[in-house]
Order: sequence, then structure tokens, then C-alpha cells
Amino acid sequence: MIRPAISEDVDALVKLEAIFPGDRLSRQSFRRFLKGNTASVLVYAEGGEVVANSVVLYRRGSLSGRIYSLVVHPRVQGRGIARALLAAAELAAVSRGCNRLCLEVRADNQTALALYLKSGYIPCGQINNYYQDHAPAQRLHKLIPI
Ligand SMILES: CC(C)(COP(=O)(O)OP(=O)(O)OC[C@H]1O[C@@H](n2cnc3c(N)ncnc32)[C@H](O)[C@@H]1OP(=O)(O)O)[C@@H](O)C(=O)NCCC(=O)NCCS
Repeated sequence: MIRPAISEDVDALVKLEAIFPGDRLSRQSFRRFLKGNTASVLVYAEGGEVVANSVVLYRRGSLSGRIYSLVVHPRVQGRGIARALLAAAELAAVSRGCNRLCLEVRADNQTALALYLKSGYIPCGQINNYYQDHAPAQRLHKLIPI
């Protein structure tokens, strides 16, 4: 089941982020996102357990949302959960008035790149030295008809 995250989910969200190496969202960031109106945080829960999440960030005055995080627990990967969360994140962005989503992903993250390309995202540039370990990022975007 996909639903908006609530404050009781923060522990699970932090745990989920911790599974993966690299830049992670902190507990404080999640709390800030859930309190304010600058982000849509969605979770996928199964049997009461949060096993995946997506985060879209918004900027005032911009019609473009930014997919900041999309994580699926390895135990449940390969079942279409990321694709479903991405579609739900797009709907959330549209409901906020956005007509475009953009994101950065590690250029060597073949799994995520395949997901985004298959979901209609278009490469729109590479940023060198983007991550803490200096790895480059691939930028992608998608126009979402309102
Ligand atoms: C990338 C990630 C979110 C995909 O989650 P998932 O739930 O397993 O993905 P889905 O089952 O919805 O698969 C959707 C598409 O992604 C691609 N994909 C998923 N797993 C893949 C794999 N192991 N190898 C290649 N492509 C893969 C495929 O295109 C797949 O479509 P298909 O099944 O029709 O071929 C997940 O692997 C993950 O959490 N990775 C670590 C965090 C991360 O890299 N997040 C993205 C950074 S922005």
C-alpha cells in the first residue's frame, strides 16, 4: 500500500536510507519534510512495515519538482514497487501544480537508470564530481501533462 508518510514512519525511513551507501537523508530532514510543505514523502508499507519510500522536493515559484530519494528494501526489490512509487510521486507533484520532474542519479547506477528511462525520463546532462566520493551524476527529467 502506498500512502503519505507520517511522523511515526521516521524511524523506518531513516533505517531504509541507511541500507544504501552514499548521501543519505537524516532524521532531521525527514522531520522537516513531514512538518513543512516543501516535500511529498510517500511510503510503501507491507504488513504494517515500511519497505520503500520516495521523496519529491518543491521550490516556491517553480513548476518543477525534484525526485530526491527513491529507495526500495532489497528484500522486496524487483516487484514493481519503485515503478508504482514513482507513478504515485508524479501524481503528488501534479497535485502540487508541477508539470515537470527532474532528478540526479549516480551515472553508474544501472538499475535506477533503467527504471527512470523505462518510466519516460529523459537524460538532460551529466554533472561531474557530484557525490561525496566525486562520482558523476546523470540528470534526467520528465514533462508531466497536467
Ligand atoms: C532502483 C530501485 C529503487 C528499483 O526498485 P525496484 O522496486 O526493485 O524496481 P521495480 O521492481 O519497480 O523495477 C522497475 C524497473 O527498474 C529496472 N530494474 C529494476 N531492477 C533492476 C535490475 N536488477 N537490473 C536492471 N534493471 C532493473 C527495470 O527497468 C524495471 O522494469 P522491468 O521490471 O519492467 O524490467 C532499487 O533497486 C533501489 O532501492 N536501489 C537503491 C537505491 C537507489 O539506487 N535509488 C535510486 C536513486 S535516485
